[in-house]
Amino acid sequence: MAEMQNIQWFPGHMTKTKRKIAESIKLIDIVAEIVDARIPQSSRNLDIEDIISKKPRLIILNKCDMADPRKTAIWKEYYKKNGIEAIDVDSKTGKGVNLFIKAIRGVLSDRIEDAKAKGINKSIRVMVVGIPNVGKSSFINKISKGKRARVEDRPGVTRGNQWFFIDKNFEILDTPGVLWPKFEDPLVGEKLAFTGAIKDQVIDIQQLAIRLLELLSIDYKNNLASRYKMTEEEVDGLNGVDLLKAIGKKRGMLISGGDVDTERAAIMILDEFRSAKIGRITLD
Ligand code: G4P
Repeated sequence: MAEMQNIQWFPGHMTKTKRKIAESIKLIDIVAEIVDARIPQSSRNLDIEDIISKKPRLIILNKCDMADPRKTAIWKEYYKKNGIEAIDVDSKTGKGVNLFIKAIRGVLSDRIEDAKAKGINKSIRVMVVGIPNVGKSSFINKISKGKRARVEDRPGVTRGNQWFFIDKNFEILDTPGVLWPKFEDPLVGEKLAFTGAIKDQVIDIQQLAIRLLELLSIDYKNNLASRYKMTEEEVDGLNGVDLLKAIGKKRGMLISGGDVDTERAAIMILDEFRSAKIGRITLD
């Protein structure tokens, strides 16, 4: 395996976001945690776990259209075993998004029944949390059907501009502040970079593509072979660097002297991974 320098990642200060989340947690009934279904574990921010674990939870596996359906099913099963409900959605087309309200009501069913028995008709308030790029804005847009009626637009309600009605008696709070990814494991950093959650400017793009090829050649050999018109044996016989070169050559990405333009090839491979052209792939 190629040695990749640890991704130098200097996120913004989390203190303010954490404080705001801690303040808002009192107002909400349930946390909807959005993750990228291609990296359901690596795209979580466990730094806020101590704050949000006090509340019921729904996990939203977003971008499931690009993730490996077999692994998505395994992840859902895993969460279920740990007592957490999860739904898989595609916020680009809106597929699965209609399950959200039902799933939230399901998780909170005891409380809803209790309130009903007491004659209380309280709104359900959900805080949606997620690191950048998991598709949080797309998801909120879809569930609010693009209307995003702000709660503050209603007379007598001034809870700030990140609250939205998505239904009568159903309010959403977008993550207050930016929830930067936090990780110690370099592999987690790489996976965030593969999906574009960490911007390419802070990364050596060729090293990143080489690492991605190494990982794909283990679990998704077949995808690599069919996308780049190679045999599985060919993929097997090459290390990451040589795979990058071989793919660049296949695509005619040559520079003067006949060498492969590995930078161009790396950009192309990452781009094709991010747009699921290599297939539906899950790396966690
Ligand atoms: P964020 O608020 O969490 O930062 O994410 P945002 O909604 O901005 O989504 C980040 C990118 O992911 C966007 O692509 C968005 O279209 C895409 N995306 C979000 N949800 C899904 C999904 O379920 N499936 C797929 N395939 N893509 C999704 P972009 O390239 O930044 O913009 P564009 O393609 O919309 O122009």
